[in-house]
Amino acid sequence: MMKFIALLSFFAILVLIACKATAPGDLESRIADETKKMTLGGKNLKNPIADTPESVKEGASHFQHHCQICHGLDGHNTGVPFADKMSPAVADLAEKDVQEYTDGQLKWIIENGIRFTGMPGWKGILDDQEMWHIVHFIRHLPAKGSLGAPAIYKGSEEQHQEMEKGAQPGKVPAQPSKQPPTRPHEHPH
Ligand code: HEC
Repeated sequence: MMKFIALLSFFAILVLIACKATAPGDLESRIADETKKMTLGGKNLKNPIADTPESVKEGASHFQHHCQICHGLDGHNTGVPFADKMSPAVADLAEKDVQEYTDGQLKWIIENGIRFTGMPGWKGILDDQEMWHIVHFIRHLPAKGSLGAPAIYKGSEEQHQEMEKGAQPGKVPAQPSKQPPTRPHEHPH
């Protein structure tokens, strides 16, 4: 019976969400949001590490190693070309929704990731201490754009511009050389 009631209220929630939704995409993301909230753990876990500038700095260095590829160096997705192309888009960690999580929930998200999104879980890659330091960093994010784009994207942006320059009309691309390659050809034919 309890199971039935739980199931019924789940459907009631779905119907409520559906009524408020305006477009199918909207409905989809609302269901994803509700599912996320229902499955999220860690609410009452306390951050065992003191909120000090040293901890924020340590968190920043882990973040800028593991998370910058999607979240940018600053946690605001600065310079990440696909951030708004992912579905759901990569969250700007300064947003109210994210900052409203407790420290324990943020740690839980980092540890377990978010199902059905591009946000991976880091269990086994980062240890608990490292995750708690990152939580402090998320509470003290640098200003948007203040750290520039991750190096990996800066390079590709320049290369892209070079390629576009090369493709300008009127500019004949260099002919491939007829000379045999200078590097020795090792594999047998
Ligand atoms: C492969 C890309 C990717 C990487 C790497 C990544 N994230 Fe995310 N992250 C995402 C996406 C996409 C979302 C949005 C998920 C959503 O809206 O539910 C997200 C959301 C989040 C959120 C907010 C969750 C919410 O409910 O809004 C936090 C906090 C977060 N990431 C922290 C991190 C940390 C810390 C790291 C590094 C240890 C990291 N992420 C690495 C893609 C990534």
